[in-house]
Amino acid sequence: MTRYSRIAGTGSYLPPRRLTNAELAADLATRGVETSDEWIVERTGIRARHFAAPDVTSSDLGVEAAKNALQAAGLQASDIDLIIVATSTPDMVFPSAACILQNKLGIAGCAAFDVQAVCSGFVYALTVADAMIRTGSASKALVIGAEVFSRILDFSDRTTCVLFGDGAGAVVLEASETPGILASDLHADGKHVGILCVPGNVSGGQILGDPLLKMDGQAVFKLAVGVLESAARATLAKANLTDADIDWLIPHQANIRIMQSTAKKLKMPLEKLIVTVDQHGNTSAASIPLALDAAVRSGKIQKGDTLMLEGVGGGFTWGAVLLKY
Ligand code: UT7
Repeated sequence: MTRYSRIAGTGSYLPPRRLTNAELAADLATRGVETSDEWIVERTGIRARHFAAPDVTSSDLGVEAAKNALQAAGLQASDIDLIIVATSTPDMVFPSAACILQNKLGIAGCAAFDVQAVCSGFVYALTVADAMIRTGSASKALVIGAEVFSRILDFSDRTTCVLFGDGAGAVVLEASETPGILASDLHADGKHVGILCVPGNVSGGQILGDPLLKMDGQAVFKLAVGVLESAARATLAKANLTDADIDWLIPHQANIRIMQSTAKKLKMPLEKLIVTVDQHGNTSAASIPLALDAAVRSGKIQKGDTLMLEGVGGGFTWGAVLLKY
């Protein structure tokens, strides 16, 4: 019998501190940085974002999302035999956020590791978990996207600091006799490393280079609209499906203009586009599972629906996962 993987439950968690564009703009004005609600809404669709308290880490956010996903799946933490955390803002250089999160869940022994593919991290992590379940290496996986991007923002750079937020989303992925994950398609092109990066590192007890986020927004924008269409088409072809079979499109939540352009290219009505970028901003690897959980809990996404998840970001990385919920 063919072994597949299927989502058994979703969860998410946002830190309580919510900042509207107006509140952020007022805060930035005190630092001499000029921006406005109008500019942010018009260019990005973002209206608000959440920022974690200074002592809260990605694993803190991720463990709350994981608990919610376990509850939705009707499982205990002790049932889990694989933990993958997608993050670019881990708690420490090492060990992984996944190991720290495993301990916070009160379990031990199962495999736990991080995936670093920036805003494509969740689709990368889901693809790895699917492969491990299908080959029998795992049966019940927690796949989590968790970020505290507020820690790596340059609040003197208005072209980036208004875009990002903190949060976490999670799914329980379990072995199933029916699919589940239908197809996935992952890519990277390292020659674009400089268009979206945090170039600093820790060396000899010092920070070497700049530890804050740098982005060439227009270059990322141009690449994103092209690859999101090609990755979606590749997964549809692998699954022998067409645009018309997609019930819900859940792209990485970075910019409403990129998301709408992808929906149009896939000939999907905008009502089938799941949008949380307005309330969360860009939460990098957490954005897709956050959006997925919001749409599941609001009752939009129903069991049996066909979902197209799409990530794109630093690396440059991109990819898609097509699945039956
Ligand atoms: O998560 C990974 C994926 N990341 C993305 O997908 C991001 C992709 N890129 C984008 O979303 C867009 O390129 C941005 C939202 C980052 C920028 O939007 P844009 O329409 O490309 O704006 P722009 O960079 O062309 O800037 C237009 C103007 C500039 O002023 P001038 O040179 O025309 O006078 C900027 O200085 O807007 C100015 N500007 C701002 N003004 C007010 C840039 N940021 C701001 C700001 N507030 N926050």
